[in-house]
Amino acid sequence: MLPLQTNKSTYMKILAFAASNSSQSINKKLIHYTASLFQNHEVEIIDINDYEMPIYSTDRQMATGIPELATTLGQKIDSSDLIMISFAEHNGSYVTAFKNIFDWLSVMKDRKTWGEKNMFLMATSPGPRGAIGVLEMAEKRFPFNGGHVVATFSFPSFATNFKEEEGIILEEKKQELLSIIERIS
Ligand SMILES: Cc1cc2nc3c(=O)[nH]c(=O)nc-3n(C[C@H](O)[C@H](O)[C@H](O)COP(=O)(O)O)c2cc1C
Repeated sequence: MLPLQTNKSTYMKILAFAASNSSQSINKKLIHYTASLFQNHEVEIIDINDYEMPIYSTDRQMATGIPELATTLGQKIDSSDLIMISFAEHNGSYVTAFKNIFDWLSVMKDRKTWGEKNMFLMATSPGPRGAIGVLEMAEKRFPFNGGHVVATFSFPSFATNFKEEEGIILEEKKQELLSIIERIS
């Protein structure tokens, strides 16, 4: 994990999303809760369903080029200071909808997938492992795609440890998240 390279308290534009296409996504809930804890920064939360594109293939790229939605998302990334993602884990890996977006972003010319931006990566699951598999996968991979991973946060057993009205109720995890936000804000 990289040390943070921003001036503390500098106003940030934060781009945030859950890497899940479920309308009931627990990772969306975690993203919304975490976004609410950032103060004096602008957080834009997007839904990856709004960036659904044809399944990536080299043939398709040759035939039709990069979809406009990938270009739009690339511009959003490039104009942000921090990217915050919370990953759902499917079979130990990325959700297909996210992987498709990742693949399209990664073949765009003249820019890196994650725009050389600081990234805060999170993940949660219903089970006790807190989707650590997909989180570690992203943490290891993203530096090769121009992502500066400055913090990670795995949140286990979502239904037990999170309440809609209160957010995180497991004190040790709440403190861990607050201290990450304090460090990267
Ligand atoms: C196809 C599929 C595969 C899954 N694989 C895993 C897995 O490998 N590890 C895990 O912790 N949960 C797994 N789950 C359960 C998800 O963690 C759970 O559905 C969670 O709610 C997904 O996050 P989301 O609600 O943000 O989409 C899987 C669920 C589905 C539908």
